[in-house]
Amino acid sequence: MTAVGIDAMEIWTGKLKLDLAETFAPAQGDDPGKYTKGLGLHASSFPDVHEDIVTMAANAAHRLMDRKGLEPEDIGRIDVATESSFDNSKPVSTYVAGCLEKVYDGDFHHANKGERKFACISGTQSLDDAYNWIRADRHRGRAAIVIATDTALYARDDPGEATQGAGAVAMLVAEDPDLLELSPEQGFGSADETDFLKPNQQFPSVDGKRSVNVYLARMREALDDFASVSGDIHPEDYPLIPFHTPFPGMVRKAAALGYRHIIRDTEIEDELAEEIGYQPVPEAFDSDDEFYEAIREYTDSLTETERYQAWYGETIDPTLEISRHVGNWYTGSVHIARAAGLKHARENGRDLDGTELLVASYGSGAQAEVHAEKVVEGWEDEIAQLNIDEQIRTRYEMSFEEYEQIHDVHNHDTEADAEAFTDPSEEFVFDGWGRMGERTYKYVE
Ligand code: CAA
Repeated sequence: MTAVGIDAMEIWTGKLKLDLAETFAPAQGDDPGKYTKGLGLHASSFPDVHEDIVTMAANAAHRLMDRKGLEPEDIGRIDVATESSFDNSKPVSTYVAGCLEKVYDGDFHHANKGERKFACISGTQSLDDAYNWIRADRHRGRAAIVIATDTALYARDDPGEATQGAGAVAMLVAEDPDLLELSPEQGFGSADETDFLKPNQQFPSVDGKRSVNVYLARMREALDDFASVSGDIHPEDYPLIPFHTPFPGMVRKAAALGYRHIIRDTEIEDELAEEIGYQPVPEAFDSDDEFYEAIREYTDSLTETERYQAWYGETIDPTLEISRHVGNWYTGSVHIARAAGLKHARENGRDLDGTELLVASYGSGAQAEVHAEKVVEGWEDEIAQLNIDEQIRTRYEMSFEEYEQIHDVHNHDTEADAEAFTDPSEEFVFDGWGRMGERTYKYVE
């Protein structure tokens, strides 16, 4: 069976930065530790005045095509995943193709385009669509561009305001990929939940605490479902486990739960038992509450063990390195987690050839998905092309007043005019409105 997977990727961050500890926390009257230690976030990215989900997506895709020497006729699909769409009919992918056609001679008239929605998990679902299209041999030798793009804004003073972010990830999905081969096995945990939703409104309605619990519950189901098709899984078999990362503190919880769940009845649990005992079992308790309390205590002790901390430091922590500085990118979050982990591995000379990553995606509403990705020999050359560190470093840092202004600029219900903070160069920018209320774009040399 020919390998199908991610051939290359590019990341585009919004060009503005809000420092959470220095700028946001004092304005909110919060202790900076809530952000840096509790949530694990230092800063969020925001789009400048001339940026939006289309420009970020098109700029990431343009870099990807340029770097891989591709022309429009090499692309048979453009799939965009987003939960920040501004049109209920015309998909963002058509706007992106329109942008790209301004800089290439050819066009995308014979490429299938669409837009995927299921909260943050739709980026991964778009990867599935592209994978299945190639596997079904309907691609005529062409590749797919999958883009996850979002402006994750919350209403002012909503608790979610701490976890905002904006950016796009573009991935090329092709046969014989240069980066990662996707596994055919997948596990799902899916249920009708009302934890985070946007019923025809721009900013989400969120039950924050519940959303955390739903994430954990669905993720556990997805892990079990994955194990049922792939065979028993062992946390230490995977060099990196990228999770959907709304904020690193969420992944800290998910990793502890996942590790505890997977080691149940294994030799790892036996080895750790000398130090922290065995995992509590429900039959040993008179009530659910007592059992949950015992499980919480066991999990806390587990995360204090040297073995867990070594695993977490090597397998999970490196995947959070980009997220810490850019915030939540919704559909793109798990994909920047994967990129961060691989980047860290390359910079630290880890040999990942032929190993498998376990990738854990999540979308509110709610669904988790788990699959494996085999790292292809030569992956370091692809990862070396990412310039995300430079992009993060050169963002314009906003004062709190400037942040308030930019939040208004991107709020669909306010008419706010503001000068851009950065000068666009060699990129697509938002250019105004067309005769039918569509957004228009141009390329700035
Ligand atoms: N020093 C150290 N830690 C501190 C601290 C301090 N000074 N002050 C607070 N903390 C800790 C808290 O103890 C807490 O940690 P634990 O959860 O481990 O107890 C953490 O910092 C956050 O503090 P709060 O719980 O008080 O924060 P909050 O209630 O204001 O908001 C939130 C947290 C509910 C996650 C909120 O930001 C939110 O609603 N976010 C949006 C929803 C979200 O991201 N949910 C995640 C799951 S859903 C999903 O993944 C989909 C998606 O992308 C949205």
